Amino acid sequence: SDERSLVLIKPDAVRRGLVGEIIGRFERKGLTVDAMVLRSMDAELADAHYAEHVDKAFYPPLKEFMTGGPLVALVLSGDQVIEVVRGLVGATDGRKAAAGTIRGDLSLSNRENLVHASDSPDSAKREIGLWFPELG
Ligand code: CMP
Repeated sequence: SDERSLVLIKPDAVRRGLVGEIIGRFERKGLTVDAMVLRSMDAELADAHYAEHVDKAFYPPLKEFMTGGPLVALVLSGDQVIEVVRGLVGATDGRKAAAGTIRGDLSLSNRENLVHASDSPDSAKREIGLWFPELG
């Protein structure tokens, strides 16, 4: 059956009015939106979501950014969705991401890079559990 990925449309994208643009790219690719919510990330959820990064130097400003305004969390499904979404999103640093990708076309930052996407089936499962516990 289809794989699932947890995607966050980050506060910079919401502020810049790019939510429709970004969801549109996922939809036009043929992926399915299984769940979606506009909400904020509090400190506790930030520390859980970014557990592997909490000790890194870039984490305090990342946490400040990610908790600084509403974001859109969604679950996407489709054939090889994790890898497909990562291709659509592009490299972490928007200045280096390839043209044609979301970050390559729309971001100039390696922090305010518009989108988070699960990087493996294990992280997708963990992240979906954090954001959409009702999906099991
Ligand atoms: P994301 O896919 O959400 O996973 C970790 C996030 O940390 C990443 O996207 C960026 O927003 C941010 N990030 C990663 N590396 C750096 C860095 N070197 N400097 C600042 N922010 C970073």
